[in-house]
Amino acid sequence: MPNAIATRPEPNRVEELDQRLAAAGTLEARLALITSAAPGRIAFSTSLGLEDQVIHHAIAQTGAPVDMFTLDTGRHFPETLDVIEASERRYRLKIRVVAPDAAEIEALVHRDGINGFRQSVEARKSCCDVRKVRPLHRALAGAGVWITGLRREQSTGRQSVTFATLDSDLNVLKVNPLADWSRDRLEEYVQRYDVPVNALHNRGFPSIGCQPCTRAVRPGEDIRSGRWWWENAEGRECGLHRRPPNNAVGT
Ligand code: ADX
Ligand code: SF4
Repeated sequence: MPNAIATRPEPNRVEELDQRLAAAGTLEARLALITSAAPGRIAFSTSLGLEDQVIHHAIAQTGAPVDMFTLDTGRHFPETLDVIEASERRYRLKIRVVAPDAAEIEALVHRDGINGFRQSVEARKSCCDVRKVRPLHRALAGAGVWITGLRREQSTGRQSVTFATLDSDLNVLKVNPLADWSRDRLEEYVQRYDVPVNALHNRGFPSIGCQPCTRAVRPGEDIRSGRWWWENAEGRECGLHRRPPNNAVGT
């Protein structure tokens, strides 16, 4: 679904913002920069994981005007849904819960079965498409900026994540204010501010997606190795963060 933003920033402005974000020392300073540079509505997609809870905390502290939404795939762990309630109680900010299209889910399940994502990579991607990617496009319609919690350290495929990039598929300025953060820095922030987090993080789940497609990892294992573990490591993305052509900027 194409996304109309009135003032699409020039590539050199995006590059400049990228550099200014890199130079800003704190997450709060980065949010202030994003707010001042934003062409239109600022949307933040939260998976309710560690990174996104840190961003949520900083949004609450700075009062940045952000439309915060989560994609409820219908297959989340109950612990993930508990984070919505705990966060709304703590920060008094509403999280918009975006559901997949019911008719699309019915057609998918009719065609592939209730757990069809196990059959093949294609079937798995169809499920991610209906439950995550298409709802993402709807949630971002009309937005000028899209904030995510992507970090370079999360996987080899994410090593080139930048702070700001134009997502031409979605026609939105995509910003990743935690791109250079380490896991230790995240955990320190969570501890210092007593940020509410998913209870599964303490049970061996560093990266949490849908229940049937996520398992715990052992200490020292790659943090995304518990996601779609039965597939080849290189292709394990759901399609929310497509690689740009020419391997330019961001993911
Ligand atoms: S995923 O693409 O493999 O699912 P990951 O779990 O690492 O991604 O999350 C990376 C970023 O994608 C999050 O910080 C968040 O911005 C976005 N994201 C992932 N899952 C969701 C979700 N269910 N709802 C909203 N945003 C999400
Ligand atoms: Fe479907 Fe699994 Fe993708 Fe969730 S992660 S949308 S259950 S294939």
